[in-house]
Amino acid sequence: MPDTLDDTALNAALTLARAEIEGALDALLPIEEGDEARLYAAMRHAAMGGGKRMRGFLVLEGAEQFGVARESALRVAAAIEMLHAYSLVHDDLPAMDDDDLRRGKPTCHVAFDEATAILAGDALQALAFQILAEEDTHSDPSVRAELVRCLARSAGARGMCGGQMLDILSETAGGPLTEAQVGRLQMMKTGRLIEFSAEAGALLGKAPSAQRHALALFGRDVGAAFQIADDLLDLTATPEEAGKRTSKDAAQGKATLVGLLGPDRARAQAERLVDQAIRHLDSFGERGDNLRMLAQYVLGRRS
Ligand code: IPE
Ligand code: IPE
Ligand code: MG
Ligand code: MG
Ligand code: MG
Repeated sequence: MPDTLDDTALNAALTLARAEIEGALDALLPIEEGDEARLYAAMRHAAMGGGKRMRGFLVLEGAEQFGVARESALRVAAAIEMLHAYSLVHDDLPAMDDDDLRRGKPTCHVAFDEATAILAGDALQALAFQILAEEDTHSDPSVRAELVRCLARSAGARGMCGGQMLDILSETAGGPLTEAQVGRLQMMKTGRLIEFSAEAGALLGKAPSAQRHALALFGRDVGAAFQIADDLLDLTATPEEAGKRTSKDAAQGKATLVGLLGPDRARAQAERLVDQAIRHLDSFGERGDNLRMLAQYVLGRRS
């Protein structure tokens, strides 16, 4: 089935979604004026003008399955992209991965300074939750509360932050982590936000729980494959292709499945995850084709 899908359709949908998400970010981020304009400039530097917008696209395509209004879905897409941008700003800090290049530009703390980058990350995170909680996102307050709850769970101690802690601890662990430990680390640091992105459209559309669950499982498998692909790119892509420094993970002692299993077995595992992800969409019909193609795109990408 996915082999016969035409990925020019995916590219067209992704290009359109990127422009729409960029527009939503521009409208929702504070304008660079006033005494604290430096903070706003750093937020815009981190959140705008780059990125694949894969998480935002997942929100939009999930929402499409249930006929959700585009303006609502775009607000949630912008919110998840802000939260993701915050995670990248902090991930790049000297105390974490210490990177100077992101999306082909200097990282936030290089373009500004560390204090400003920390604050810009904090403010992007806060704004993401503010947007979810605002009435324009959904008329039903229980839907808004559920979006806030789910994003908080995905981003926090049992999600992205917890995974980032494990990632940092792995650099100085006595020996290599087991495959199961690396899988859990990656599910937390990357998988949870991608799972939220896939599930959010079902929340907005008040979808039946079976369909919401199917999208969440889809996102979980796509997220796991996505981090393996990122780790493979660290090994094989140039900084020009990736827009960020590569060939760093092994030197920094990062625990990755690529390091543990080698690139071939890691890729095979990612391919299995993509197939499994697509099977979760069996009940979705043709409307799910962009999601199916996206799952495959995750492994074919060079950036
Ligand atoms: C990079 O995410 C961080 C990981 C979780 C691997 P992306 O590869 O989605 O980064 P952008 O948003 O496209 O820059
Ligand atoms: C980052 O993983 C995951 C986040 C939660 C931000 P990486 O450290 O591998 O991401 P890149 O390679 O810097 O984009
Ligand atoms: Mg990192
Ligand atoms: Mg990093
Ligand atoms: Mg990486």
